Amino acid sequence: MTATADPMAAPASWRGLPAAQQPDWPDPGHLRAVTDELAGLPPLVFAGECDVLRERLAAVARGEAFVLQGGDCAETFAGATAEAVRAKLQTLLQMAVVLTYGASVPIIKIGRMAGQFAKPRSRPDEIRDGIELPAYRGDAINGFEFTAQARTPDPARLLRAYHCSAVTLNLCRAFATGGFADLHQVHAWNQDFVAQSPAGQRYERLAGEIDRALAFMRACGADPEELHAVEFYSSHEALLLDYEQALTRCDSRTGRPYDTSAHFVWVGERTRDLHGAHIEFASSIRNPVGVKVGPDTKPSDVLALINRLNPDREPGRVTLITRMGAGRVRDVLPPLIKTVIAEGIEIPWVCDPMHGNTFEAPSGHKTRRLHDVLDEVQGFFEVHRSLGTHPGGVHIEFTGDNVTECVGGSHEIAAGDLHQRYETACDPRLNRSQALDLAFIVADSYRR
Ligand code: PEP
Ligand code: CO
Repeated sequence: MTATADPMAAPASWRGLPAAQQPDWPDPGHLRAVTDELAGLPPLVFAGECDVLRERLAAVARGEAFVLQGGDCAETFAGATAEAVRAKLQTLLQMAVVLTYGASVPIIKIGRMAGQFAKPRSRPDEIRDGIELPAYRGDAINGFEFTAQARTPDPARLLRAYHCSAVTLNLCRAFATGGFADLHQVHAWNQDFVAQSPAGQRYERLAGEIDRALAFMRACGADPEELHAVEFYSSHEALLLDYEQALTRCDSRTGRPYDTSAHFVWVGERTRDLHGAHIEFASSIRNPVGVKVGPDTKPSDVLALINRLNPDREPGRVTLITRMGAGRVRDVLPPLIKTVIAEGIEIPWVCDPMHGNTFEAPSGHKTRRLHDVLDEVQGFFEVHRSLGTHPGGVHIEFTGDNVTECVGGSHEIAAGDLHQRYETACDPRLNRSQALDLAFIVADSYRR
């Protein structure tokens, strides 16, 4: 089960290739010392777990399961607390219950958690009041505070990212299997501000139906183990290749390389150059991997990516995460899907309805309308239904807290409310009640 810690064993074929979005580390010697140390630290996940997730994703590709992937746009070191992790997991569990019950399909739960500490940026610098500093690139690289010291990339942060990932994953594993995620707790997850929202009240009715079903099963003498725990997987964008490389180990069972920083890693829209370092790295590891594809993706790009990342056509190995924007999904998604099915390829198609729908509110806050997010999800379902393919899942940015970062929702947040609790370190996230609104819509769309 375990993987060896020999960094030499991990392929580094990406090193000679152009790597977009890498920080300008001021001291390469310091970076090397840190990555050497990381290479000697224990793996965060095991190869066998990644293999199970790949099988689960193969089931998604066959139309037998649905992915729910989500969490912060950017995790922060300060956010690696029991309280914050519990609230995020609770949101994921509530959404998963709505989907399992409403859509009658197994839900594969993947957190954007325990490693989502590095961000690609559209501009390398940020200017405020005439002062120019490096952009914030995530806690694994530099600090959010707008000072020259905080914004200077510091390799020591990679070690902290590793340790925060370990702490977060430990909490997730304990919450997932230690009783908290037991389906009999279905009411207990619906607490505080969420319980008062329309989505929370709808959830409460659904939880009541689940209670009755559980009581019925108990009366029949059935108490399956599956109801007492959930399978949870970690994921993040494989952006910082020095970090991912240091965590890549050869599996002692098979001798093959796995990136042990997370069960699933994806390559982002800005770094998915077919001839670049990120795709080369992703093609060299055995984990299930994802690629984000935006509205300008050509059908030939998609085919080339699939062929590069999965030449053996192994089921569940590559997931395409589409992020087209509500206004474009119905036009740009069909040609991509048609090309893939014409080749006889079955893959999980996952909808990220967040990243194509970002805009700036009059107050200057980066935000998203829940209405657009839901519209993209619905467009995604319509396209798949019309082509006879399986809408395989959703990938969203949410938090467990009552933040005011996206506008809309059954518990309406207006553009003028955004300042009240705008806490994201990067993109605007759905709060828990908006995330539940989305889960109900997805469940309804899936059932149709
Ligand atoms: C993200 O997932 O936060 C992100 C930057 O996405 P994309 O690569 O799709 O822009
Ligand atoms: Co984001």
